[in-house]
Amino acid sequence: MHINNRNLPKKILSWYDNNKRTLPWRISRNFKKKQYYRILSEFMLQQTQVKTVIPYFNNFIKEIPDLTALSKSNEKKVLKLWEGLGYYARAKNLHKTSKILIEKYNGQIPRSFEKLKELPGIGDYTANVLLALIYNQPRVALDGNVKRVLSRLDNINTEETVNLFRTKRNGDFAEALMEFGALICKPKDPRCHECKIKKMCAYYASESKIRFGKKIKIQSKSYDIFCYLKKNKRQIALTKNNDLGFLKKFNLPKIKETSKKNKNWKFLCNYKNSISNKKLHINLYYKFTSKIPSEYNWYSLNKNNEFIPSFTKKIFKQISHLY
Ligand code: ADE
Repeated sequence: MHINNRNLPKKILSWYDNNKRTLPWRISRNFKKKQYYRILSEFMLQQTQVKTVIPYFNNFIKEIPDLTALSKSNEKKVLKLWEGLGYYARAKNLHKTSKILIEKYNGQIPRSFEKLKELPGIGDYTANVLLALIYNQPRVALDGNVKRVLSRLDNINTEETVNLFRTKRNGDFAEALMEFGALICKPKDPRCHECKIKKMCAYYASESKIRFGKKIKIQSKSYDIFCYLKKNKRQIALTKNNDLGFLKKFNLPKIKETSKKNKNWKFLCNYKNSISNKKLHINLYYKFTSKIPSEYNWYSLNKNNEFIPSFTKKIFKQISHLY
């Protein structure tokens, strides 16, 4: 291996100091606030991009300013603030974790990897990143960005590499590597001409610029959604009993993979809805009726203080035009 492990943190940190984005969870605070902002932002950043998270984070801390307030909030409020971010298990887990932190750890994030991993919603990555960012422990959090940076550098086993870096600024280094992956060593078209470490990089040296890392496959599918509507009442019938595995826990209208068997339904519109790596083509059908199958319940289209996933919101928005 030819990475000079003394040089790497120095170069990456110097790049970071001059180029890092000012993100709301990075602004320095007292230690209590710092812990809260870091755990909240890291939960939000699981599976979600920085630019999407920023407005949600700002709104969340306005409504729920600290860990104690979070532990005392009801779950409905937490989910409402998460509405639109997706992966709602994160919100539920964060809420549970906040209660445990207050009750068992005096409102502090534990310093031990094993204890952190016992908390709901905290896996290896989040445990590592929190220990680095909050306690300056020498841990590099291997998210997709960081794995790509390290594998391009020397195409070596990233689990081994991370133990070789030495710096006093462990937290900054963990974050700097993520930032470097997001802004310079990007998955497609990396900005090698701006890169401060290209001289030590195997990817840069390789003529073919071999692509490392897995590509996420986009799945494209077409679904028919059938809405039972109550006349004059602005109500829609919803059920948890539907075929969409990734939305199984939610109340939804009848959903089927697109077929031609929809004679008794009126066509309303079609639109696209992207959820993580799925691109869904939706055909929306409806009928006005007062009789619904037993597994359905009526639900008001006017409820806007309740948590509603954006998938369902889009349906409601289209249906609203019928009343
Ligand atoms: N992704 C996850 N955590 C992050 C952080 N602290 N900064 C930038 N991107 C991130």
